[in-house]
Amino acid sequence: MTDTATLILDGKEHQLPLVVGTEGERAVDIQTLRNNTGYVTLDPGYANTASCESAITFIDGEKGLLHYRGIPIEQFAAHPNFVEVSWLLIFGRLPTMREYTEFAHDLNAHANLDESMKHIFQGFPRSAPPMAILSAMINGLSCFHPELMELEDKTQFRRAAARLISKIRTIAAYAYRHSLGKPYIYPDPNLRYVPNFLHMMFSQPYEPYYCDEDVRDAVNLLLILHADHEQNCSTSTVRMVGSSQANLFASCAAGVCALWGPRHGGANVEVLHMLEQIHAGQITPEEYVAMAKDKESKVRLMGFGHRVYKNFDPRAKMLAKVAERLLRDRGKNDPLLNIARKLEEIALEDPYFVERKLYPNVDFYSGIIMRAIGIPTSMFTVMFAIGRLPGWIAHWWEQNQEAGGMIARPRQVYTGNNSTDYLLMERR
Ligand code: SDX
Repeated sequence: MTDTATLILDGKEHQLPLVVGTEGERAVDIQTLRNNTGYVTLDPGYANTASCESAITFIDGEKGLLHYRGIPIEQFAAHPNFVEVSWLLIFGRLPTMREYTEFAHDLNAHANLDESMKHIFQGFPRSAPPMAILSAMINGLSCFHPELMELEDKTQFRRAAARLISKIRTIAAYAYRHSLGKPYIYPDPNLRYVPNFLHMMFSQPYEPYYCDEDVRDAVNLLLILHADHEQNCSTSTVRMVGSSQANLFASCAAGVCALWGPRHGGANVEVLHMLEQIHAGQITPEEYVAMAKDKESKVRLMGFGHRVYKNFDPRAKMLAKVAERLLRDRGKNDPLLNIARKLEEIALEDPYFVERKLYPNVDFYSGIIMRAIGIPTSMFTVMFAIGRLPGWIAHWWEQNQEAGGMIARPRQVYTGNNSTDYLLMERR
C-alpha cells in the first residue's frame, strides 16, 4: 500500500500522507490541504473525519468490538470494578495494587462537597432536570478547588481526576435527594465506590441502604460499559472545550451538556418512555416499529442505531444479559424487558433496519437495569455521565499532553449573502 494519496485539483496533483492506526484504520492526513490548495473538506457531523489520534479506546463498528486500552470490554464482566477501569482509561494501563489502593483512598477521602455547595442545590427548583444541576455543579466545583484549575503536573491532574470522579456521585445523589425534598446523605468512607453512591441515593437518616452484591456488580458493569467510546459527541465536546485550555471542570461540565441530548446520552430516558408507552397499551410494538420507519412521524426506535456500530453494539449484548440476570436473581419479571426483546426481534427481521444496519445500542437495555435497582428515569442520563466521566478525563488529559496542541477551530463553506451595503432604516 502506498503511503500517500494523490488528489488532483484544478489539474494539479497534490500528495497527501496516509496515516495507519495500530488496528489498521487508515486516514488521509489533510493538515496541509488548505495551505497547499486553498480547498477545505466538507463533512457535516464529522462522519468521515478523524479529529485526532488517540490511544484510549478502539471501536470496530463492523465487527462490533470495543476495547479499553486494548482490553475487550467483555473481559471486565467477570469482576466488574469501575474504579480500576477508570484508572486504566486515564493512566493507560491497569493499576498495581498500590496504585489502585491509593486511588480508591483518594476517591473515598474526597467524596464530600463543600458544605456551602448545599445552598446552591437549594437554589434549584425541585423540578430542575438533574443534568442541569450536574453540569452546573461540576463547573461550580472549580470555585471550591482553585488549586486544581491549572494542572501543570501529573500529581495535580491525578488529584483533580480523583475529586471529580468521587464528587460526581455526591452531586448526582444530592440532586436526586433535592428533587424529593429529602435530606442529603453524607458519603460513608467505609463503603466502596458504587455502594457509597447508592447509600447517598437511597439511605434514610434512620435507615441505611446497603446494596447487595448483584446490584453492586451490575452498577459497576453498567458504569464500565459507559466509561468511554472514543470520539462520541460528548467526548468530542470535552476535547473541543479543553483545546482552548479551559480547565478540566469546565470541559467536563460541557460534556454533561452534550450528553444530555436525546440523540446521545438522553436516549436511555427516551427508551423507557417508549417501552412504557407500549406497556400502557397506547401502541403495540409492531405499530411503534412501523412508526419509527415512517419519516413523517419524526419518531425513531430509541436505543437503536449508531454512527459507528453497523453490527451489534457489544455493550447492548452485555447489558441485556445483566438485565435478565438481575431480574432473575431478584425474582422479578419486568414487562418492559419483554417488550424490549419483542421490539428487538421485530426490528432485526425488518428490512428497513437490516438494510440500514440498525441494531440495539448501549441505551436500549440500560434503563431496564436502572429501573430494577430503583433508579428513577430522571437519573438515567446522570448515570451515563457518572460512567462517562473517566473517559472524558482521559481524553482531556491525552489532548492536554499533546506537544503543540492546537485550539479546535473547524472551517466552513459560506453560503450567505455576497458583499452588500448597509441600508439606512428609512430606505428599507
Ligand atoms: C449513544 O457516538 C457514540 O459513540 C454514542 C454512544 C456513546 O457511547 O457515546 O454510543 C452513546 O449516543 C448511542 C445512541 C443513542 N441514540 C439513540 O438511540 C437515538 C436513536 N438513534 C438515532 O437517532 C441514530 O441512530 C443515531 C443518532 C444514534 C445515529 O445517527 P446517524 O449515524 O447520524 O444516522 P442517521 O441519523 O443518518 O440515520 C441513517 C438512517 C436514516 O434513514 P435514511 O435517511 O437512510 O432513510 O437510519 C435511520 C435514519 O432515519 N435511522 C433510524 C434510527 N436511527 C437511524 N430510523 C429509525 N430509528 C432509529 N433509531
